[in-house]
Amino acid sequence: MTAMDLASRARQILRDNDQGGYTIPTAGLYPYQWNWDSVFVSMGFATFDSDRAWREIETLFQAQWPDGMVPHIVFRVDEPSYFPGPGVWQAEKGPLPSSGISQPPVAATAVLALAEHDLERARPLLPKLDAWHRWYHAARDPDGLGIIAVTHPWESGRDNLPDWDAPGDAIDVSKVGDYTRRDTALVDAEMRPKKKDYDRYLALVQFGRDCGWDQHHIAANNPFFVADVGITAILLRAERDLARLAQKLGAPTDAIEARIARMEAGFDRLWNAEAGAYCSLDLRSGQHAEAATAASFLAPYAGIAQRKAAVVDLLGAFAEHVTYMVPSFDPRSSHFDHQRYWRGPVWAMVNWMIAKGLAEHGEDAWAARIRTDTARLIGTSGFAEYFSPVTGEGLGGGTFSWTSAIWLAWNLDEIMEGAV
Ligand code: DGY
Repeated sequence: MTAMDLASRARQILRDNDQGGYTIPTAGLYPYQWNWDSVFVSMGFATFDSDRAWREIETLFQAQWPDGMVPHIVFRVDEPSYFPGPGVWQAEKGPLPSSGISQPPVAATAVLALAEHDLERARPLLPKLDAWHRWYHAARDPDGLGIIAVTHPWESGRDNLPDWDAPGDAIDVSKVGDYTRRDTALVDAEMRPKKKDYDRYLALVQFGRDCGWDQHHIAANNPFFVADVGITAILLRAERDLARLAQKLGAPTDAIEARIARMEAGFDRLWNAEAGAYCSLDLRSGQHAEAATAASFLAPYAGIAQRKAAVVDLLGAFAEHVTYMVPSFDPRSSHFDHQRYWRGPVWAMVNWMIAKGLAEHGEDAWAARIRTDTARLIGTSGFAEYFSPVTGEGLGGGTFSWTSAIWLAWNLDEIMEGAV
């Protein structure tokens, strides 16, 4: 396919996955609105239909809970092709049926970009974004450490990352009972989380359900409470972008600045000197995860520059072991698995965030390498959910919304002809 064909295919995928105001990640495997998927989708729509880009974010915020949380899945319909659906979650605290956890808060970053062309449309979103960010600090950093925990691997958006293996040992799965997964009927099981992971996912849903999704109870008692580099970096970036947006709108920024300062002071708690990387931190056991992940490269995106040389060295170390950057997990680890979801594969939207941060900190060569690799992967293997960093094969779901959106938002046409 030529670059022009790829761009029109990307637009077509977004149109096909559009349910009329919100977009599903891909039919069958993910038939609802997912939080951070929608935000990346909005960046793709912004390249050819700005009204639709705004709508994507506005419909996501229709599901915001009274406490500020924006849920990770919005269940507007009941789709039997997905498990676990609304009947399993029983999370009824918001205006729409939803899950009871959140997902990486990328939205303020997307809204700031959209506001360049229509500042007034951003105005009603400002207090909603602010409420969500405040919720993250209150419910996921109750001790004010400046680092943000996830209460479920799904909340991180990086479901089966090896980081969650050891903290997950504390989860009692004895009451999970029988269930039927739908994902492995749609995608090769080798590319998906294992049953052991799913047992833990469901036990955590049961824990939340049993306490009526009381977020304070969850923060204090959930068996899984792990400070995540991904969420922390993405929220810190989003807070900075929210402050810029508030400033443009003439709104006060003091409270946002105070949250930024707390996070800047706390970020180094995630530094694992032994691994030479920012790693997640199990807040129950006090143990860091032992290896780096793609999120270890998000520090520049978060505006954290003090360990930039180490971050760049680590990129070099990863690159020696794979053909395509950036693998989601350290390819030097025995837990690396080049095709299993978040244990190795490359994700286009993670690459976009990493490269953006690197470019903002003068690492143009690395940013260009990551952008080119992303174009080569999609140009060769299509709009897959994720890609093998070793073979370049497209994996997981097909005709995937956020992969299409990144093609458009990152203008990968521009480099495709020369790169593929
Ligand atoms: C899934 O079902 O695999 C999702 O990642 C949960 O958010």
